[in-house]
Order: sequence, then C-alpha cells, then structure tokens
Amino acid sequence: MAGVANQNILLGVTGGIAAYKSVELARLLLKAGARVRVVMTEAATRFVSPLTFQAVTGSPVRCSLFDEEHEAAMGHIELARWADQMVIAPASADFMARMALGLANDLLTTLCLASASSIAIAPAMNQRMWQHPAVQHNLSLLEERGVRVLGPESGEQACGDTGPGRMLEPADMLAALDSASGAGLFAGKKVLITAGPTHEAIDPVRFIGNRSSGKMGYALARAFRRGGADVLLVSGPVSLPAPPGVNRVNVQTALQMHKAVFENIHSVDIFVGCAAVADYRPENPQQQKIKKLSDRMDISLVRNPDILAEVATLEEGPYTLGFAAETQNLVENARAKLLAKQVDMLAANSVADGMGFESDENTLLVIWPEGEKHLPVQDKQQLAESLLGVLADQYRRDE
Ligand code: CTP
Repeated sequence: MAGVANQNILLGVTGGIAAYKSVELARLLLKAGARVRVVMTEAATRFVSPLTFQAVTGSPVRCSLFDEEHEAAMGHIELARWADQMVIAPASADFMARMALGLANDLLTTLCLASASSIAIAPAMNQRMWQHPAVQHNLSLLEERGVRVLGPESGEQACGDTGPGRMLEPADMLAALDSASGAGLFAGKKVLITAGPTHEAIDPVRFIGNRSSGKMGYALARAFRRGGADVLLVSGPVSLPAPPGVNRVNVQTALQMHKAVFENIHSVDIFVGCAAVADYRPENPQQQKIKKLSDRMDISLVRNPDILAEVATLEEGPYTLGFAAETQNLVENARAKLLAKQVDMLAANSVADGMGFESDENTLLVIWPEGEKHLPVQDKQQLAESLLGVLADQYRRDE
C-alpha cells in the first residue's frame, strides 16, 4: 500500500503537553491525503481544545463514550471499523498502562480493543517515567501484541529534564506512518541479520571482544519483522531480548557466527551484516586459565573469515547490506569498502565522536553503487525504519 493517502486514520490524543504537536500531525496527515478523525481523552482536553482539532480536520472530535448525539451519528463500533490505522499521539504513561491491561474505561481504550486496524503509539512523557520498569514492561506487552511504537526521541523536555521521552516531531511521525502502511514491504522475504559483538577466547575465562551492544542489529530485526519478513537473527553475546516474532541463534565467536550464517544463507533473500565481528582471534586459545607466570605475554592472532564479504560474493547470493564503522574519511572509506566487499549497500557511521557503539542514537550515511542518502541523528529503532525504507527502494529496483 502506498503511504497514508486515502487511508482512514483515527488519531487518538491523550493527556500530555505534546498534544499540541498532534494538531500539526493531523494537518500533515490531511495534507498527505488521509482522512482524519480525532478522539481525545478527558486529560487531553486539558492541554488542547477539541475545537482546535475540529477546526483543523473539519470533522467533529469525540471525547466520550457516553455521548448520545455523536453515538447516533457514528457509533464507537462504527468508528472502530472505519479506521484503517489508529495512531495514539501523544501516548501517555497512563494510557499505555490502560492499553496494556486491556481496559475499556473511556472511548479511546474501547476503540483500541474494538478495532481490527493496526495501532501505532507515539509515547511522550518525562524521561524518568519513560525509563520506569512499569512503563517499559507495558511497552514490551504492547509491542508483543503488534503495536507499533514510534519514538520517543531523546532531548530537552518541557519539564526541564533531558533524556528519552520527547514525542517524535510530526513530520518524522508522518514519514514513519507512511512506511508503516507499507506493512507488507518485506512480506514473504527471508532476512538473515548478524548482530552484536563476537567474543574470541584467550582461555576459558578471558576473551577479546568489542563494545558493540547489538542495538542496531536488533532494531533492524524488529523493523524487518514489522515489514512482514521472516527474520533470523544470528547474534553474538548481548543482553537484549529477541524482538517479537524473530528467530534467534546465539553464538559467541566469529567462527560460530560464520557457521550459523552459512547453514542458513541459501534460502535467504536479504543478508544484513550488522555484527561487529572480530577481525582476528587468538591462534591458540588455552584450555586452562593462563597463570601470571611472566612479566609480559604475547598473544598471536589469526584472521577470522569475513562473513559479509563471503556472502556478498556468493553466486546467486542474497541482496547484501553491510555496515562500516569509521573514525576518519567516512565517505571515501565507505565507498572503498562497498567496492572491496562487493556488497549491494553499505551503511556507514562515524565512531570518532562517541556516536555508534553502545549509544541509543546514531546517524548513517547509506551508499550504494549509484547513489547515497544521509540519515540524520535519531533513535536506533527510528533509524532502522528509515534505513529499511532506503533498502526497500533499491532492493525492489535490483529485483
Ligand atoms: N564483517 C563480517 N565479518 C568480519 C568482519 C566484518 O561480516 N570478519 C562485516 C560487519 O558485520 C560489517 C562490515 O563487515 O557489516 C564492516 O566491518 P568493518 O569492521 O567496518 O570493516 P572491516 O572489513 O573489518 O575493515 P577495517 O576493519 O579495515 O575497517
């Protein structure tokens, strides 16, 4: 399906200062050709008047389940059926909790239960609230049920705090919703993603590793799954749960990762090399713990296979997306790596300024033989969705 144009979008607004941004979201959705109806919670009306949304959308705004006049015009079940997509923006901590519990104690929660349409939420709240285990638990429950989560962003908040919890900007939300309606973008496709670091044993208790958290690879796995793909994640040691619906194979070393990839690669349509694979491993890992018997110690290292390069040069192999972490000359090094590894697409980021490894945000320069696109700094999940949009365009062209 192409974008939000001609879709019936039910915009739910809950109580939070970010509600004022949803007026702009409503306007952008209409401009993009969607039909928009707004439902507000009681708390939302404390921040923005229903009249504001009514003026922007040209349709009556519903705030209560027990509104005889409105129920006579378009009853709540009818409204639930009308929606092709529901978007709750902002989604407050309270609303997420009620939704996670499956409550139906106001019009908007009732519609969430009564509608068969896809639901996206754009959380917005104070950063401490967002990071509270109760909110994160509700978030996981909603994600497991297939609710799409847009944002939040990190940054300065209305309350003066700085951190995660800011609602996505309306334009970014529109872009995300546009790609969400391409929910079947990768339907029927099999995707194999490597993620995380590898640990190369020195002895039974020590290893050579790196700072990769696996967040980007996991975000991509989640995004491909949402796009309808059958996703296999070959993951190095990380502390992240497998995204809902994603199959995961756990490995420790580059050789194990190589084996797991090549056992599965032949049925794969798209391969994403997102792991920070150790380029070298100790030549002779010791069976027993090494004792400190001398003043110095040398460890001899040997090269690991380059998994991405091997996949990219397979005859009739999958479409390949590689990553490159560079500390200097980003563009030249990325172009050189694209050619050297013969990948179809390369996503390069600079790790010179503390970005990339371990952080929640990142920026990417995506290149392919005939073009490039710069994806600005954003939350890794958002970045994964944007990267998938670029990949989908090129992949379809190559298919
Ligand atoms: N990669 C891989 N197997 C390896 C090393 C790297 O599959 N043994 C993949 C990574 O998953 C990533 C890409 O290759 O997609 C780029 O890795 P990077 O470390 O940036 O580049 P290198 O090829 O290792 O080159 P260099 O270290 O010289 O920059």
